[in-house]
Amino acid sequence: MFAKVEQIIGAIEAANPQTPEELEQFRIQYLGSKNTIKPLFGEIRNVPNERKKEYGKLVNKAKVTAENKFAELKEKLEAAADEASAQALDLTMPGEPLELGSRHPIATTLNRIVTIFQRMGFAVVEGPEIEDDWHNFTAMNTPEDHPARDMQDTFYLKNSTELLLRTHTSPVQSRVMETQKPPIRIIAPGRVYRNETISARSHAQFHQVEGLYVDEGVSFADMKQTLMYFAQEMFGTPKIRLRPSYFPFTEPSAEMDVWIGMDNEKNYRLSKGTGWLEILGCGMVDPNVLTNCGIDPEKYSGFAFGMGIERQAMRLYDIHDIRLFFENDVRFLKQFASVV
Ligand code: DAH
Repeated sequence: MFAKVEQIIGAIEAANPQTPEELEQFRIQYLGSKNTIKPLFGEIRNVPNERKKEYGKLVNKAKVTAENKFAELKEKLEAAADEASAQALDLTMPGEPLELGSRHPIATTLNRIVTIFQRMGFAVVEGPEIEDDWHNFTAMNTPEDHPARDMQDTFYLKNSTELLLRTHTSPVQSRVMETQKPPIRIIAPGRVYRNETISARSHAQFHQVEGLYVDEGVSFADMKQTLMYFAQEMFGTPKIRLRPSYFPFTEPSAEMDVWIGMDNEKNYRLSKGTGWLEILGCGMVDPNVLTNCGIDPEKYSGFAFGMGIERQAMRLYDIHDIRLFFENDVRFLKQFASVV
């Protein structure tokens, strides 16, 4: 009996697996659930009493030897594998080129706009891209039969007349006014969607920045000054023009043009020979909108504005096709790598 254990210990010590598979064999044989050492413990009942202790110790030794040997072999094999892969590595090979990412031109334009308004104390808020009818239209003074709904062709969610992809960032106005009390001074940048034919000049998805300022005694003059400052910072000129216009959610409403001049062909073309570039829609928040959102129009007034980003980015970077923004062609995007 003793000899058998001694023999097993000898075999363990002599074992010399060379591959992970052989090592696994070793593990199964000596440490697995049906290993060769286990039954040896049972045999203690056949050992005379005075030698039981000695026998126990010996079997234990077999077990510990197997455990130690396994750890040692495992380490040895792993080190060998590491060495082999290090040798397979050719350090003289040229490295993988590390491609640097850069900001998307829409993002840089958006950031510029956001920064200008943040400096004037506007807080940035966001709203959901899947909107409900109330926030996108009704709260914004555009009830169901209102002809202005035709101005914006809407994507509705399947089987729903209630949920839609927001057609503008204006619903963020209603969401903010429903939950915050004046003074409110926010801008809301984000993506908007319209069911339009995609061409070089229009796309079914684009970006807008919405602005809203509500407090006691806010006037049209405050709006004009704010937008003039924006034009100065964004386009380097305070020369703006406010043309009367119509939006359901503002009264009076205006469209703002920035003077870009006609002193070169590009500006001539962009402004269609007028020198003026249309940038945004704006106006005094319609009292109905304030009431819809739980703000007393007798006490408070405000102005709002909304502008498209793509058009401005196209002007800033001389891009002639809006589709380029959404194709994610790195040859296009790489050209803006140095723009921050
Ligand atoms: N939501 C309008 C659009 O998408 C733009 C706009 C016009 C927003 C006037 C406003 C505003 O906040 O006052 O065409």
